[in-house]
Amino acid sequence: MPTAKSKPFLVAPSILSADFARLGEEIIAVEKAGADWIHVDVMDGHFVPNLTIGAPVVKSLRKATKMTLDVHLMIESPEEYIEDFAQAGADYLTIHVEAVEKSKLKEVLQQIRKAGMKPGITLRPKTPVEEVLPVLKLVDLVLVMTVEPGFGGQSFMTDQVAKIKTLRQEIDATGLHALIEVDGGINAETAKQVTDADVLVAGNFVFTGDYKNAIATLKAVKRSVG
Ligand code: DX5
Ligand code: ZN
Repeated sequence: MPTAKSKPFLVAPSILSADFARLGEEIIAVEKAGADWIHVDVMDGHFVPNLTIGAPVVKSLRKATKMTLDVHLMIESPEEYIEDFAQAGADYLTIHVEAVEKSKLKEVLQQIRKAGMKPGITLRPKTPVEEVLPVLKLVDLVLVMTVEPGFGGQSFMTDQVAKIKTLRQEIDATGLHALIEVDGGINAETAKQVTDADVLVAGNFVFTGDYKNAIATLKAVKRSVG
C-alpha cells in the first residue's frame, strides 16, 4: 500500500496571498499551474486579529472552479455559519478546536457532515495535539498550523512538526482516513520537514513567484527527500 510519504503532496494555494481584485483569474491561473485544492482563509477579527472574507466569496469561487474548496474558519462560533458555507459550495469546512465549547465539538463536526461537507479540525500552535485526537475519527482533515493563525507570509514554526508525526502515527495505527494538512510558512525548504503530511497550504510561496514552478517544486519534495 502506498504510504503518505510516497504519495506526492496535494497543493492548496491560499487565496489570502492572491490579488483579490482579480480573484477569478487568479483561481484559473493556479488551477492551470497544477493546484489541487483552493484554500480559503475566513477570519472574523475576533478569533484572530484580522478580517477577510466569508461565504459570498466562496459562492463566487464555486462558480469559477471545480477544484476542491478547502475552507479554514478562523472565527468564533463557527457552528452558526455551517449552513451558509454548505450553500456556498464549500467542500471541506475546517474549524478550530479552540473556537467551540468542548462539550459541543463532536456535534458541530457531525453537523458539518450532515450539511454535505467534509469536516476538518485544526489547532493553534500553542494548543497540544492531544486536544484533537478524540475527534480524529469524525473528521476528513486535520490541519496543523505552523504559524499563528491570522496572516499570510509568516515564518514556519519548526516546533510544530512533532504534531504532524503524532497525527500520522495515530491515523495509521487506528486505520483512520483523515488527511493531514499543513498551513503556514510552507516553501521548498520547509516542505521537506513535513513529509508525513498529505496536503500543503501555500500562500506567499505560490502567489509571489511563478505559480507553476512553485506548485511543481512542492509536489516534487517527497521524491527529492526520499
Ligand atoms: C494563516 C492562514 C494561512 C496563510 C498561509 O492564518 O491560515 O492559510 O494564508 O500563508 P503563507 O503560506 O504565506 O504562510
Ligand atoms: Zn489557512
